[in-house]
Amino acid sequence: TVLIIDFGSQVTQLIARRVREAGVYSEIVPFQSAQEAFRRMKPKAVILSGSPASTVDIGSPRAPQEIFEAGIPVLGICYGEQTMCAQLGGKVESGHHREFGRAFLEIEDESALFDGVWAKGTRHQVWMSHGDRVTALPAGFRVIGTSTGAPYAAIADEKRRFYAVQFHPEVVHTPDGAKLLANFVHNIAGLAGDWTMAAYREQAIAAIRAQVGDGRVICALSGGVDSSVAAVLIHEAIGERLTCIFVDHGLMRKGEGEQVVSMYREHYNIPLVHVQAQEMFLSALEGEADPEKKRKTIGRLFIEVFEDEAKKLADAGKPADFLAQGTLYPDVIESVSFTGGPSVTIKSHHNVGGLPERMKMKLVEPLRELFKDEVRALGRELGLPDHFIERHPFPGPGLAIRCPGAVTRDKLDILREADAIYLDEIRKAGLYNAIWQAFAVLLPVQTVGVMGDGRTYEYVCALRAVTSVDGMTADFYHYDMEFLGRAATRIINEVRGINRVVYDVTSKPPGTIEWE
Ligand code: XMP
Repeated sequence: TVLIIDFGSQVTQLIARRVREAGVYSEIVPFQSAQEAFRRMKPKAVILSGSPASTVDIGSPRAPQEIFEAGIPVLGICYGEQTMCAQLGGKVESGHHREFGRAFLEIEDESALFDGVWAKGTRHQVWMSHGDRVTALPAGFRVIGTSTGAPYAAIADEKRRFYAVQFHPEVVHTPDGAKLLANFVHNIAGLAGDWTMAAYREQAIAAIRAQVGDGRVICALSGGVDSSVAAVLIHEAIGERLTCIFVDHGLMRKGEGEQVVSMYREHYNIPLVHVQAQEMFLSALEGEADPEKKRKTIGRLFIEVFEDEAKKLADAGKPADFLAQGTLYPDVIESVSFTGGPSVTIKSHHNVGGLPERMKMKLVEPLRELFKDEVRALGRELGLPDHFIERHPFPGPGLAIRCPGAVTRDKLDILREADAIYLDEIRKAGLYNAIWQAFAVLLPVQTVGVMGDGRTYEYVCALRAVTSVDGMTADFYHYDMEFLGRAATRIINEVRGINRVVYDVTSKPPGTIEWE
């Protein structure tokens, strides 16, 4: 195992990811619990992350001193370099020359870190983001790379196997960075790159068994990839002691509820409670046009329904001790936060967020360390069908937030049909996997048209498609016009209630992906 000590950098999870890509298992722990984790895990190597903190500030975080005395290799990145130097007798100062973004590293000397990647005397692009810098090296270290702003941009004490870099090898803007991290774990730490998703599956199952013991788990299935992979994994670990609850709020896409139910019941044989709550959700949403109120109403009802089902299970003598969630790493990166200022709520996301506090349940989150694409790989490993794994994300509040204005049953029916045709055309054109997310929106606007010889006065349907890596930023998808024309014609011809189709060419920012 490689222990990654997190000092609160935005990109710590990328370090773990690169280490996994090199076929080595790693765990991230926040610096506050690093000492305990270090003693428990006895890692073969340690990586120190970046941080928004400054080592020159009083009380700024440090790595447990004992990691430097255990005879194992340590790699410091950015702040990790600075604290390593400060802790081993070097010096760090607030920089007069700050570097943010692209920089160039001059390779001053050969090193095991650069082996087979960067030769002495060459120059390479790296990504920097620092204000402070090291100004004196601890004993035993030498410089192996420099940049304009950082005379100690890469340093090494090969005897003790301590390495540190001021730049961020984990980000894609350091094009060779992944290879440096692979060198560290393979050549320097001597770890074999034989860790795979199959091994992860075994480890995750063992961890679930250890955590749950002979307890019971309930899981809210959304029909999405994350909760599904979590459920299948937990089912492998504890079998019938898992119960899944699928709340059908009537805001799903066409045919989706049935697909979810049949997949779980028939394919996986997972105990599933299918709650038909369409009526309840639709009547609560009646006349509500405010996007935030829609989201809050749906979130609140969801929790009520779920609690109700949990209570029924308890009454039947099967009380749940744990709540399973398909939380991914990007959802938890806020866990170590110094800067701490409250961020503005753009949209109140509804998943099962409010549940744990309300139900006072312990959480089982087997995907906490993974990224979306890794969850997909794990899903494949678990035998989930490809078409399911590759599904586009779908928001918890469903079609309600794709129907600006008041939501009615009629509008939902129109939207569902248009959306299904649009996605069908995308699949037929072979574009589904090139797009992060695509969907139809039904606008609360009617416009005049002419069909046959008659006047029509019907709704406008907007089509949306974006590319994205993580949903945080997105670009609209650049279709060719032929495709859009085809989709629009089919929607207008086949869906009663729509006589005009427009395409949304807004990126995020300034738009969000969903319309509400
Ligand atoms: P926005 O619209 O904020 O969406 O750009 C970013 C991504 O998040 C999805 N989304 C949600 N997912 N519950 C979810 O599980 C929600 O309440 C929610 N709202 C938006 C959205 O579909 C996109 O993938």
